[in-house]
Amino acid sequence: MNLDYNEGIALFTEVIGLVKTDITGTQEAVVCSPFIHLQGLAQLAKGHNKVSIGAQNAHQAEAGAYTGEISARMIKSVGAAYVILGHSERRQYFGESNELLAKKTDMALSHDLKPIFCIGETLQEREANQHFDIIKSQLAEGVFHLDEAQFSKLVIAYEPVWAIGTGVTASSDQAQEIHAFIRKEIAAKYSQQVADATTILYGGSCTPKNAPDLFAQPDIDGGLIGGASLKSRDFVDILKVFN
Ligand code: PGA
Repeated sequence: MNLDYNEGIALFTEVIGLVKTDITGTQEAVVCSPFIHLQGLAQLAKGHNKVSIGAQNAHQAEAGAYTGEISARMIKSVGAAYVILGHSERRQYFGESNELLAKKTDMALSHDLKPIFCIGETLQEREANQHFDIIKSQLAEGVFHLDEAQFSKLVIAYEPVWAIGTGVTASSDQAQEIHAFIRKEIAAKYSQQVADATTILYGGSCTPKNAPDLFAQPDIDGGLIGGASLKSRDFVDILKVFN
């Protein structure tokens, strides 16, 4: 909740321009904006195969009297392909539980939106050495009810809550350790093949400076970028790591 409509469109226009000139690989940028920007972004993104659009949340119901809410079908109808679900700020400030997020995931998938499903432990949980258990239950309760075909449409984002917007990044080793654990859990639930094909993003104070090290880890497939995505140059420089 940072930019007004015109600011958001201006930022996205810059991003598209820089992606065109600077991105030479097969990497994909997904820009997940506030609802108000989605339609404008989708228009600008038309014909750009390296940039997709997503929302930052969606309601769990198909439709109905939920004043102020936005459905997966509405999001899909403006041309978005993705939706972030379970961002730690949604969990923390809006009380979103794993159980609720399982429903949101089902609804998003039923409208052919790809969920970017966020998991991650708080500082307190890490200090109490509970981080593996937390990750395990977020996966088990949030997404492991899906069958293999459905699960294959998901992107998983590991975001240690203590690293989001704080300037503190997980070290590459800390992040890799959890990413490998996530992949192992997916392999145990589905198969090694599904686990290997799953995109697992790291999020939390990712910058052009620390991205090369993070993305060099074998189980880190990309980033979920918050603060740095408000500067087109930084966002595209992070994306450029995959050139
Ligand atoms: P940050 O945010 O990159 O500013 O830490 C990450 C996020 O919001 O998921």
